Amino acid sequence: MSDTFDELWGALAPVGRQRTTGGYRRFSWTPADTQARAWFAAAAADRGLTVETDRNGNMWAWWGDPGPDAVVTGSHLDSVPDGGAYDGPLGVVSALAAVDELRARGVRPARPLAVTVFVEEEGARFGVACLGSRLLTGAITPERARGLTDADGVTWARAMAEAGLDPERIGADPLALERIGVFVELHIEQGRHLVHRGSALGVASAVWPHGRWRLDFTGQADHAGTTRLADRNDPMLPFAETVLAAREAAEAHDAVATIGKVAVHPNGTNAIPSRVRAWLDARAPDEGTLRAVVDAITATARRAAGRHGVSPASFQESFSPVVHFRDDLRDRVATTVGGPAGPAPVLPTGAGHDAGTLAAAVPTAMLFVRNPSGVSHAPDEYAEPADCHTGVRALADVLADLLAA
Ligand code: GLV
Ligand code: MN
Ligand code: MN
Ligand code: MN
Repeated sequence: MSDTFDELWGALAPVGRQRTTGGYRRFSWTPADTQARAWFAAAAADRGLTVETDRNGNMWAWWGDPGPDAVVTGSHLDSVPDGGAYDGPLGVVSALAAVDELRARGVRPARPLAVTVFVEEEGARFGVACLGSRLLTGAITPERARGLTDADGVTWARAMAEAGLDPERIGADPLALERIGVFVELHIEQGRHLVHRGSALGVASAVWPHGRWRLDFTGQADHAGTTRLADRNDPMLPFAETVLAAREAAEAHDAVATIGKVAVHPNGTNAIPSRVRAWLDARAPDEGTLRAVVDAITATARRAAGRHGVSPASFQESFSPVVHFRDDLRDRVATTVGGPAGPAPVLPTGAGHDAGTLAAAVPTAMLFVRNPSGVSHAPDEYAEPADCHTGVRALADVLADLLAA
């Protein structure tokens, strides 16, 4: 099994890797993503799995006839800008390797099994995370999804059409959803909980509620040398206050808030900007706290904008409610994964996942694989090969248990 994992991992590793940083840039429907999807289709076909793409662009590789009541496992292949190798691909590669492992064990599934690849999980290109699973479950309307644009103004509809899919057919897909009896996503841990617990594997209890807000500060473009300070309407100033407010609000509420993406127009050294557009990512243990954090930040943004003669605007781009994974499935998976040593550690996460979106519609569980540094969404993201192999065996155990049911 470790051979097939290593072989799959090695074949996918160069796809979208940046020569300068070693990080990954696999944005949905770009050539790197297309190459990763083609890799998946070929690896699945090599295993005799039947590959299909659903109307939203998610990929399914079936062992046995598609649904109903299938055991489904998988993750995503797209990345954040300069992302790590593991976030997403570890779940896909482990799923394919687990199929090999089940076959090597002589398992004959009593239920169908599918390996999935969800599209645009990171929302790095079109702004809304988990877009493929949101479309599948109906958590976003097709109209809104079609109109989402990337940094160059290319719409989701156009990108899909260029990939050979029909954007008029996207949207809630109850037939595809009904085929899923249970969904299990294996994922790199994006923190150091498992390191502290001394465990290679863990099981998810919950996903923190989280969301993305776009904040626009519109001022007056002008000359950096000749415009008196008193005459300026500089949007950079309320923006800067808002960055600090995000940190303060998060600290005050035991939450997290991040401004990691900014677009300054026109972005000239010797010009006062006309507009600063920033994206706020905020997450908290519960929705009340999350709303309080975001309200505090946007209130500061408005006040600071007013003081500088700048127009503020804010727009919620996405919101993901809290997810509590089903206790019975969580405990069953933790017991299977932990083996004779006792149940695997159970932990909540602040990261979003397709499993979180699917949990609203089908029984869902998640497995985490230890990450020694805890770093994620960055080139230094890492998992030890031995832990990855342990993850595949554990996933195979979980799938075998579910397939027998
Ligand atoms: C996805 O990985 C997210 O948590 O933003
Ligand atoms: Mn991610
Ligand atoms: Mn992920
Ligand atoms: Mn000049």
